[in-house]
Amino acid sequence: MFLNRKNNRISLSNKTSHIHLRFIRIYRWSPYVVNKPWFSIHPISLNSCGPMVLDALIKIKEEQDSNLAFRRSCREGICGSCSMNINGVNTLACLKNLSINSKFITIYPLPHMYIIKDLVPDLSNFYNQYKTIKPWLLNKSTKHFKEHFQSKKNRSQLDGLYECILCACCSASCPSYWWNQDKYLGPAILLQAYRWIIDSRDLNKNLRLKFLNHKMRLFRCHTIMNCSKTCPKHLNPGKAISSIKYQILKN
Ligand code: SF4
Ligand code: F3S
Ligand code: FES
Repeated sequence: MFLNRKNNRISLSNKTSHIHLRFIRIYRWSPYVVNKPWFSIHPISLNSCGPMVLDALIKIKEEQDSNLAFRRSCREGICGSCSMNINGVNTLACLKNLSINSKFITIYPLPHMYIIKDLVPDLSNFYNQYKTIKPWLLNKSTKHFKEHFQSKKNRSQLDGLYECILCACCSASCPSYWWNQDKYLGPAILLQAYRWIIDSRDLNKNLRLKFLNHKMRLFRCHTIMNCSKTCPKHLNPGKAISSIKYQILKN
């Protein structure tokens, strides 16, 4: 180790600091600047940056290019805002460590989405599809503001479903969704739909299944399983879709 003593503090010398450099290559697009996308490349020293890719993006925006556009909020994998494609994988920038083996980190927005600017995709279609599955409790007695009890066993049915943060990483990794996102609901929305179908407090299961029993909305899933592989919350939307298909067959 090459260590210097400066003001009674230990710091890495220049001889080793080059090891801690990362070059962040970012897809850029702004219809107000030029009509073609381009890449910007930004050197980042790991010694003066937080540990995650999101920290690097915030640092680049603050110190190198204030025009850079990306979404973020919670910076701890809860809000789902910072989803993007990092080194070929859809994931959350706030959960992706900067200190990977490669010196170069390439960042694209979520693939096959319309882009508003740089790393910001237009999620209007995604949220409109979310609305169609009625993502709330449908139970006649809800108007009486009654508490709905659930056994521990029934509550455990929601594990692996309620944790979904709607980041859209899975839908943007699904080839069926790429080509038919105007009709196919995609893995994220279908996992959310199953979350309400399987909820013992919801009394609208049959109508929910009837809505999904459609060759495009549900059966466009060909069990490719990219969705489950990429989910940054380690959920399994592919399994949830198979469970919906099973429920339809059983009904
Ligand atoms: Fe994101 Fe996973 Fe939910 Fe898909 S299932 S929206 S990847 S958290
Ligand atoms: Fe797509 Fe996942 Fe089905 S990748 S085809 S939604 S299993
Ligand atoms: Fe909220 Fe990354 S900033 S999930």
